[in-house]
Amino acid sequence: MSTQATTNDKPLIIDIRNIAKTYVMGEEEVRAVKDISIQIYKNDYVAIMGPSGSGKSTLMNILGCLDTPSKGDYFFKQDNVSDMDDDELAEIRNREIGFVFQTFNLLPRYSTLKNVELPLVYSGMSKDKRLEQAERALVNVGLGDRMDHKPNELSGGQRQRVAIARALVTEPSIILADEPTGNLDTKTGDEIMKLFEELWMKGNTIILVTHEPDIARHAHRIIKVRDGMIESDLINPNPVSAFDKKTFDIAINDSTVVLEQE
Ligand SMILES: Nc1ncnc2c1ncn2[C@@H]1O[C@H](COP(=O)(O)OP(=O)(O)OP(=O)(O)O)[C@@H](O)[C@H]1O
Ligand SMILES: [Mg+2]
Repeated sequence: MSTQATTNDKPLIIDIRNIAKTYVMGEEEVRAVKDISIQIYKNDYVAIMGPSGSGKSTLMNILGCLDTPSKGDYFFKQDNVSDMDDDELAEIRNREIGFVFQTFNLLPRYSTLKNVELPLVYSGMSKDKRLEQAERALVNVGLGDRMDHKPNELSGGQRQRVAIARALVTEPSIILADEPTGNLDTKTGDEIMKLFEELWMKGNTIILVTHEPDIARHAHRIIKVRDGMIESDLINPNPVSAFDKKTFDIAINDSTVVLEQE
């Protein structure tokens, strides 16, 4: 049984219809995604949840045009992605989609600035303009003072912020994040969730995969996947702001201080 989240008057960005993805492994077929239909609208903030192996990353790879479905249709802003060749897919990825991965996927030999500049190399932009835009993206995630550091000279949370700056530098219309807080402690994960919330407030569309209910509760819509199918697709009636949580933490700390004083 699936419950479809409401439609609304925002522009439709992603429209997948009855997609399936089957991997062939020698004699064996793995039906990673069996039959999934989802519509994502501009400025949606969606969490995808589900057990390990349920097809979340496979679905994200299809949504992000990193992979194509074996069956079904995918319309990205009305273009039929299912018909596109590798070059067309690469173009749509570059122009429209920013990725954030659990393991950051930064290039270890390159500085923070160079890592963030890289996605712009294919854009035909001049070097000066590219560096200027990469600098701005890093300042926006609070890393203006870490431009020359290499990834191994940064904390986990800072690395993920670099990855987010890299995802944003091309000004994509949608951010896809697969377990973006999976390798981070709770406090650092909360900082990353604040960044996502800021992006959402600026009008970005966000889809993130997470195992953690604590992370999913920030999203405005929660899609649960099981065995390559959608189990439920529901509006979150009470999304928790990542910024409210900070106030809450401070309140706890204050009362702790008070208790300690007594
Ligand atoms: N490239 C591949 N070739 C063959 N099988 C694959 C491939 N990628 C994924 N699978 C299989 O497809 C199924 C779904 O995998 P997927 O990575 O989408 O799961 P997931 O929900 O992201 O899991 P997790 O929470 O552990 O990341 C699994 O059974 C997996 O083994
Ligand atoms: Mg996965």
